Amino acid sequence: MNGEKRIVGWNELADHSNRTSLWVVIEGEVFDVTTYLAEHPGGDDILLKYGGMDGTQKFLEVNHSNYARSLRNARLVGTLTSDPQPSDYVKVVKSKKQKNNFNPNRQISWEELALHNKKEDLWMVIEGKVYDVTDFQDDHPGGPAILLGKAGDDATAAFHDANHSQSAYKQLEKLQVGVITGVKPNVSGSGSSTNLIFVILLILAIGAGIYVFTK
Ligand code: HEM
Ligand code: HEM
Repeated sequence: MNGEKRIVGWNELADHSNRTSLWVVIEGEVFDVTTYLAEHPGGDDILLKYGGMDGTQKFLEVNHSNYARSLRNARLVGTLTSDPQPSDYVKVVKSKKQKNNFNPNRQISWEELALHNKKEDLWMVIEGKVYDVTDFQDDHPGGPAILLGKAGDDATAAFHDANHSQSAYKQLEKLQVGVITGVKPNVSGSGSSTNLIFVILLILAIGAGIYVFTK
């Protein structure tokens, strides 16, 4: 870094307006709050609402503490361009948000699903649809642990077993990030190679036994 502040243009800002990558403008500076979403004491909804937008007024209204400001400053991306905001900017951001967040037809492979297998990044499949339950874990009436147990995996049977209500189905809608595509890889692959080794060892042991007894 040469000490000069990076300038962020409106187009670039608009591309960081959803939970995959979320920037907000506060007092002319751009902050990356993507990894702060789950921790924000004011909740994730409000940050998502201001994703790619100017949240200055609201930020000041809330009277954030100096502590909040120091957390914020550690997430500085750069300074917002001095170019005037394009007249259709809000419309552009809204359509990008919708495209990126709520494209229920985005095709997601089992390999991609499996990458989202931890508490900080937790996806699962229910009835062929892929859900991002990262921010939902602590709100789940059935507890977070049970969700983590299905991280990056197909949770359809477990979901049915718990006899979820219509209201649970309704909550699912908001969490969908795509649909699963392809055939689930056969995870028992490593198990079958373990079996093969076991069979070989057994044959060797029997062979050794016969050798000893026939000597
Ligand atoms: C990087 C940016 C941000 C950081 C680090 C941050 C941090 C915090 C912290 C630490 C609190 C707890 C109270 C305090 O210590 O002040 C808080 C509360 C809150 N924040 Fe933020 N915040 C950020 C951005 C925003 C933005 C952009 C908005 C709105 C547009 C917002 C809305 C709120 C609200 C509504 C509360 C709850 C206040 C209450 O319950 O009284 N925050 N934030
Ligand atoms: C990811 C989306 C999920 C949502 C939105 C969700 C939502 C809910 C809701 C709203 C309830 C309260 C009862 C009801 O209204 O049905 C509940 C309870 C429960 N959930 Fe889930 N759930 C999800 C996934 C799962 C999964 C994958 C499992 C199992 C692996 C699970 C296991 C349970 C259990 C055992 C309860 C019952 C808790 C009790 O009765 O004490 N949930 N869930």
